[in-house]
Amino acid sequence: MEGLMITGKTKILGIIGDPVEHSKSPLLHNFISVFKNIDMVYVPFRVEKNNLSAAINGLRALNVIGFNVTVPHKNNVIQYLDKVSEEAELMGAVNTVKNVDGVLYGYNTDGEGFLRDFKEETGQSFKGKKVVIIGAGGAARAITVKVVLEGAQNIIILNRTEDKAKALSDYINEKLRNCSCYRGMGNNEVKNEIKECEIIINTTSVGMHPEIDKSPINSDGFFTERHIVYDIIYNPLKTKLLEAAEAKGCKTVNGLGMLFYQGIYAYEKWNDIVFSKDEIELFFKRFKEIVITS
Ligand code: ATR
Repeated sequence: MEGLMITGKTKILGIIGDPVEHSKSPLLHNFISVFKNIDMVYVPFRVEKNNLSAAINGLRALNVIGFNVTVPHKNNVIQYLDKVSEEAELMGAVNTVKNVDGVLYGYNTDGEGFLRDFKEETGQSFKGKKVVIIGAGGAARAITVKVVLEGAQNIIILNRTEDKAKALSDYINEKLRNCSCYRGMGNNEVKNEIKECEIIINTTSVGMHPEIDKSPINSDGFFTERHIVYDIIYNPLKTKLLEAAEAKGCKTVNGLGMLFYQGIYAYEKWNDIVFSKDEIELFFKRFKEIVITS
């Protein structure tokens, strides 16, 4: 395998966000391009909040073939795009943009990436399941929409700020299906909901590096081995929440796979290709090495 060779024909991909320095996406996408011998390079662009419109115009003018969008632009970018997928519209967030002859198409591969990883790791689906979502921000909305579209029976949103939990719950009930309710974070409320549910998903950043001693819920004694606990955090790979769940015998999954698959789906969209199972396995193995060593 040869290294990256930039020529006059090389196509440009990138990621816009602020910050972007920590992003693993350049490593993943450039590895894939080199491996597949596709003449593309993926670069980070730090774009401040008030420069978003100028940045999108610039990317269009420069004819980049696509880009990812991360914090804080996932919502605001929508107004500058020409078309947005139905799912991204429902999620209120776009993380992947494809430029087709100057027309910018917006997608959300976070939800798809989450779902794929969940299925791969647990062998289960959301059909008929009772699911607790911790958090009510942007990540919570994307994941909740996906989980409801996948046929979950019941969604309980737990959030520190109850008003935000109510707003997300109302939104789901109005736009998708009447299947959602919300609770505060009081110990008894959390305990009762967890006792009743099968799947718990943490969508907050609580427990993320450097605050690795924090957990979004005090889970002592709430988990049993029939629970699946998914934490979208990937740094650290085992959060305090996952550690507590694992100690009780739950199936636990961290956010590394979600990060990986959202990137895979973006790359497939930009290039109109579908990777084979073997390729995905190889890319994931390499991605894990990249994340651990970078
Ligand atoms: P994202 O787009 O990553 O979801 P966000 O929209 O800012 O980010 O949402 C962050 C979520 O994490 C919210 O649910 C937030 O709870 P509040 O609505 O009460 O702010 C939750 N969160 C962040 N820090 C938290 C903390 N220290 N304790 C509890 N919840 C926290």
